[in-house]
Amino acid sequence: MRDDYYPFVNLPLPYGYGAMEPYIDEKTMRVHHDGHLEAYISKLNAALKERPGLQMLPLAALVRGGALLGEEVARNAGGVYNHRFYFELLQNPADREPHGALRKAIERDFGGFAQFREEFKKAALSVFGSGYAWLAAERGRLAILTTGNQDTPLQRGMKPVLNVDVWEHAYYLKHQYRRADYIEDWFKIINWPRAESNFLG
Ligand SMILES: [Fe+2]
Repeated sequence: MRDDYYPFVNLPLPYGYGAMEPYIDEKTMRVHHDGHLEAYISKLNAALKERPGLQMLPLAALVRGGALLGEEVARNAGGVYNHRFYFELLQNPADREPHGALRKAIERDFGGFAQFREEFKKAALSVFGSGYAWLAAERGRLAILTTGNQDTPLQRGMKPVLNVDVWEHAYYLKHQYRRADYIEDWFKIINWPRAESNFLG
C-alpha cells in the first residue's frame, strides 16, 4: 500500500461508489469512505497537530508504534490504514480465486483454496463486536488472524496481505445482521492480483 504523511488526505476511491454493486451497495461505500474513513483521517490529523514530533512518521510507522504513541494516534492511524487497505483490495468484476505465487502459498499453508476460504470465513464470523479478519504473512508463511477495533497485523510484526472489515458499518445497510452473507459477497470482489503483490512485496 502507498504510504504517506501528515497531513493525511482522504484520496478518492480508485473506482466509483457503485462499482461493487450488487455485492456492496453504493450507499454503504459512500458512507464508509466519505464518512467513516474521513472521520479517522481528520481525527488523526487533529491528534498529530498536537504531536509535532510524530508528524514526520509515515502511516505504517504510526500504526506500528501502536499504544506507545498514545491512544488517539494509535486508534486513528489504525482506522486509516485498515480502511485504505480494505478499499484497495476490492475489485469488480474479479477473479473468484487467486493464481500464481499466492495461490501456491495458500495451498501449501492451508491445504487448498477451499480450506482457506472456509477457515477465513470462520475467522471473520468469530470477530466479536468490531474488527477485521486478515490474511497475513510472517517469514513467508501465511496465517489467518483477527484483530479487534482498529488493531492491525503490523503491530504483531506480520505483513498484511488481505483484510475484510467486519464492523457493522461495512455491511449493515444491505446485509443487516447477516455477516455471513456479506462475507460471501465480499469473496466475489477480492482483488487477488493486488493481494499477491502485498504477499510478494
Ligand atoms: Fe470500516
